[in-house]
Amino acid sequence: MMTEIISSNDKKAMLRAAELIKRGETVAFPTETVYGLGANAFDEDAVNKIFEAKGRPADNPLIVHIENMNMIGDIAVGIPDDFYTLYEKFMPGPLTIILHRGKKIGDKVTAGLDTVAVRFPRHRTASELIKKSGCPLATPSANLSAHISPTTARHVYDDLNGRIPLIIDGGECSVGIESTVLDLTGEIPLVLRPGAVTLDMLRKVLKEVEQLNKYSPSDTGLFCNKSPGMKYRHYSPNADLYIANDGKDAKFLYDTALKDGKKTVIIAKAANAALYGDRNILTIPDDSKGYAKKIYSLLRLAEQSYGFIVCEKPDLSGSGESVLNRLIKASNK
Ligand code: TXA
Ligand code: MG
Repeated sequence: MMTEIISSNDKKAMLRAAELIKRGETVAFPTETVYGLGANAFDEDAVNKIFEAKGRPADNPLIVHIENMNMIGDIAVGIPDDFYTLYEKFMPGPLTIILHRGKKIGDKVTAGLDTVAVRFPRHRTASELIKKSGCPLATPSANLSAHISPTTARHVYDDLNGRIPLIIDGGECSVGIESTVLDLTGEIPLVLRPGAVTLDMLRKVLKEVEQLNKYSPSDTGLFCNKSPGMKYRHYSPNADLYIANDGKDAKFLYDTALKDGKKTVIIAKAANAALYGDRNILTIPDDSKGYAKKIYSLLRLAEQSYGFIVCEKPDLSGSGESVLNRLIKASNK
């Protein structure tokens, strides 16, 4: 199939995008975190097309995206007070909440689980598409399964050209990494995937909330049970990826790979760029917010020309820890 790219400012084309959703097709669109690939969450055949286009394993559930609270009753049941507290504080925004599944949500979306993930994105184009489509959209990131999430329409095209009918181009995503996933169905609220809404931010509004620390590989088993997606290699470039703690570390990794004859590059924070002499570098903003926004596009750029990527660790303030979480999952360790 031909994949068309339209502008989010083109009102007529936006109506066509909504028509495609109504007809049970998939459409890629921007959110504030990353680009998503959406389909009518109440239509199992449409949802199946998402899995096919991405090559996504059927046991990895999707997030249901909404643009107001009217449909929540069809999507989830037994909604706890904490949800409304979080709604007031963080929605719309980069936070996904796991609730008990409602009756209109089928097995494909949830991969057979009795829970469902719900997110209310902050991006104008996402809201407009959901509203015009008249249904919630089951929407994973719009990349081929296991590849890096897309933060521009071009990234989506590079992965899914010929596999989906339409991509809405709304420019570069502002956050740059996927939403925080918070499970409200267990004994205490639990962060399954860290993101721009950090544990510290959640602690300010919830009485109790925990985050399983996934930095150690021995923790992964715990995550697998809770969030099926966690067991897959994720966010990976088509190249070896190593994380460097500092400039010395980065130089060592780079020089070793170079000796092995590998085409190598360092993703270096701007402040450190001068350290690297004539080595190949791509610069990334020093602050954790800027770093998060650019990391996926730099990894995509790097994988096009290099087989070995050394990435300087982000500053760990704010969403930096969440970015490090993604890098560790993408890396060779
Ligand atoms: O920012 C985002 O969340 C983006 C944009 C497009 O909204 N979406 C996204 O979707 O990152 P995806 O499918 O790439 O990641 C969803 C994660 C997966 O790890 C999945 O396993 C988990 O959420 N998930 C979905 N439903 C779940 C459920 N019922 N219980 C536990 N984890 C769930
Ligand atoms: Mg994804």
